[in-house]
Amino acid sequence: MRILADCDTGIDDALALAYLASRAGAELVGVGSVHGNVAAEQAADNSLEVLERCGLGTVPVAVGARRPLVGDARFAEEWHGRDGLGDVARPGPRGLPTEEPAAVQLVRRAREAAFQGEPLTLLATGPCTNLALALLLEPELTSWVDRVVVMGGALRVPGNVGLLSEANIAADPEAAAIVVSAPWRVVLVSLDVTMQAILEHEAVERLARAGGLPAWCAAVTQLYLDRYQAVLGRRACPLHDPLAAAVACAPEIVRLETLPVVVELRGEWTRGATVADHRRGADPATGGHVRAGPNEATEPLASGSELSPVGVVEAAVDVDGPAFVEHFVSLLLEPEAGSARLAGEAGGERR
Ligand code: RIB
Ligand code: CA
Repeated sequence: MRILADCDTGIDDALALAYLASRAGAELVGVGSVHGNVAAEQAADNSLEVLERCGLGTVPVAVGARRPLVGDARFAEEWHGRDGLGDVARPGPRGLPTEEPAAVQLVRRAREAAFQGEPLTLLATGPCTNLALALLLEPELTSWVDRVVVMGGALRVPGNVGLLSEANIAADPEAAAIVVSAPWRVVLVSLDVTMQAILEHEAVERLARAGGLPAWCAAVTQLYLDRYQAVLGRRACPLHDPLAAAVACAPEIVRLETLPVVVELRGEWTRGATVADHRRGADPATGGHVRAGPNEATEPLASGSELSPVGVVEAAVDVDGPAFVEHFVSLLLEPEAGSARLAGEAGGERR
């Protein structure tokens, strides 16, 4: 499985990269950075440092969009720290980002992989700006990738930055609308499932006791545990981005439902909401037009909106959260044979 990750590397993005490095069969071909939890330049530095710690110092990291398609970037220092990785003392990366912008890297790597007969999986764990820019640069991109796994949205649950909006989608709704409605296979890993994947502080202590990369992951996660205490009522945090990374590797770990979805671009209270058509009879093949019946609503989902076209996504609607979290912790403690992390150790890349 060849993956190109696009991240606003904060704490859970870092955990997602560490997860991928520990998993056999996950080949990270590149990473893009994007505004979100922190500035795009900082996110790139964070990715570089995590990758170096995982023995993946040769994976190219490209800096991406500094701001959303509309408006200004807003960072999440309160949740991820000023440096995006919990403000623990750390040396920073040895390497530098590539010269190439992230959207250009994405198009180039996707084209190469498609022509080699092994199309990429795109994994977006931050705002969708780079993916949207890549689609605008090269519409053929939709036929070159296997699927696009997006951590974002809230379908049947409340939002986490707005009443109905999730942080990654709300940070660039216009970009998310472009990505969700493009003719490619989008798998949406929303708060509906990520809020079921809760890492308890006892598990973080297990990581801390192990030393090495797991202990470093435990150290950067402390601030996330602090902040989520107010939300969850205990010292624990959701594994938003690691769950999306796991779905990129093995979609069968979640229950998927095909749903018409639009991203709300207006709305006094709802900008950035992911509106899914859950109505009985909604037909994904027609973008959510409800098949007419005597007692059925017949209003199609936003078919009249020129702003936000309907997309049809495979939405993750259920997961065995505790089983996933145990798998995640075990993998960080014991990377799989053949994983990049073990290969990196052999190559002396690990700190
Ligand atoms: O809503 C969760 C998402 O927002 C995660 O990707 C997290 O890293 C933050 O950016
Ligand atoms: Ca993220």
